[in-house]
Amino acid sequence: LVLVVDFGAQYAQLIARRVREARVYSEIVPHHMPVSEMLARNPKAIVLSGGPASVYTPDAPQLDPALVDGRVPVFGICYGFMAMAQALGGEVAHTGQREYGRTQVEVLEPGTLLAAVPTTLTSWMSHGDEVVKAPEGFTVNASSPRATVAAFEHVERQLAGVQWHPEVMHSEHGQAVLEHFLIDIAGCRPTWTMVNIVEEQIDKIRTQIGDRGQAICGLSGGVDSAVAAAIVQRAIGDRLTCVYVDHGLMRKGETEQVERDFVAATGVDLKVVNAEKQFLDALVGVSDPEEKRKIIGREFIRVFETAEAEILADAVSGDDGDKVAFLVQGTLYPDVVESGGGAGASNIKSHHNVGGLPDDLEFELVEPLRTLFKDEVRLMGEQLGLPAEIVHRQPFPGPGLGIRIIGEVTRERLDILREADAIAREELTRAGLDRDIWQMPVVLLADVRSVGVQGDGRTYGHPVVLRPVTSEDAMTADWARLPYDVMERISTRITNEVSEINRVTVDVTSKPPGTIEWE
Ligand code: XMP
Repeated sequence: LVLVVDFGAQYAQLIARRVREARVYSEIVPHHMPVSEMLARNPKAIVLSGGPASVYTPDAPQLDPALVDGRVPVFGICYGFMAMAQALGGEVAHTGQREYGRTQVEVLEPGTLLAAVPTTLTSWMSHGDEVVKAPEGFTVNASSPRATVAAFEHVERQLAGVQWHPEVMHSEHGQAVLEHFLIDIAGCRPTWTMVNIVEEQIDKIRTQIGDRGQAICGLSGGVDSAVAAAIVQRAIGDRLTCVYVDHGLMRKGETEQVERDFVAATGVDLKVVNAEKQFLDALVGVSDPEEKRKIIGREFIRVFETAEAEILADAVSGDDGDKVAFLVQGTLYPDVVESGGGAGASNIKSHHNVGGLPDDLEFELVEPLRTLFKDEVRLMGEQLGLPAEIVHRQPFPGPGLGIRIIGEVTRERLDILREADAIAREELTRAGLDRDIWQMPVVLLADVRSVGVQGDGRTYGHPVVLRPVTSEDAMTADWARLPYDVMERISTRITNEVSEINRVTVDVTSKPPGTIEWE
């Protein structure tokens, strides 16, 4: 275990991911966690993240010198590097000279940290102060125009740091530098592989559930719930039942894919509830986005709980007298970090008010993806043998196509959008862009019409909007620069094959200010 101490930078999650890419498991902890508590977790190493601009800011988060007294290997990045220098008796000057963005770093003495990297490195910097004197006994490995000491190490004491951000893509050889610290200086072993993670998770799920009862998992068609269900199935077999609510707002072929491919790959016991009519009836006359979301959410809970009650009623009325029900959820690590959860246990008990079930039935959450990032969940899915169409599919919102029709949602409009969306996804896949594009919603402007000409005749159809974005986590996104020929194929095919659509447009707004979805 490597702990990444978060000094309030947006980079802590990225650092944790890079450490894991080095096949060393990492978790994020807040900087105010007492050193004794960090050490009690027995970390093999600690990485201090970047943070606010200056160690001199009055309310700057402090580094407890006890953390760098040599009991555990420590690597400081940017702010963490300066805080480390200061705590160890080096000198940090408040120069007011800023260095932002791409910067050339000169390697003075490669040592262990910068072994086998070029003597000049392009690196990503973001700092206003600089380390002017390394602590006693440290080797200065590099400098940059505005950082006299841009990297240092003390191999015997297993302490090192860099002024730049090795975790960002723009820093050349960043991953190598991080690995030199983790493997060569701190002595971590690169054993965290997906095979091991899957084994470990299966053991954990078995330990949690034991023989205490039945588990239920709601499948959305998305990758998270599919992977969560697949691994729980591996652990407890047919004591897991999956529920898939078809609300009629799914993409083309999605329900069939879950029913056929997912079941074939996992052997999961699946209950499909067709509730299209119930959802569409509830949505009649509604075009306000928030109202749509509320209605879809409400109907979803109703349908899911009814299905859940039926499954559990069967289970608890059996002679084995199971009294615990487990609810499997695909919560990911970023959600855990963002809700301040950190390392806490996941056995939150929650009581459901589901009609027809004994009052003392307890629900317990099973969250097998709680420690994983999205890309790791996809790897786990591959490891579990899930089909690529499920593992690499684009994220899809719970309310489905309901929030991609601007205006009232009707069956006819859904069918139009489903066709256009299927063409767009097919062409994206054909162009080999699935891994580069985070997602590309297709939005139907159902209340807008425009004049066109097709064949010999005038048309009066609807526009669709392509919304291709790149993103790491959906919190921020940029519009994706799709190749012109891909856009052209999508446009030609949609206008030819979907007769109600006569115009294809592209949304070129980043997030912020736009959100990814239109509603
Ligand atoms: P926005 O539109 O807020 O979307 O930029 C960010 C990400 O979240 C997805 N999204 C949802 N996912 N339920 C979900 O499970 C929802 O209600 C929902 N709304 C948006 C969206 O597709 C994007 O990936």
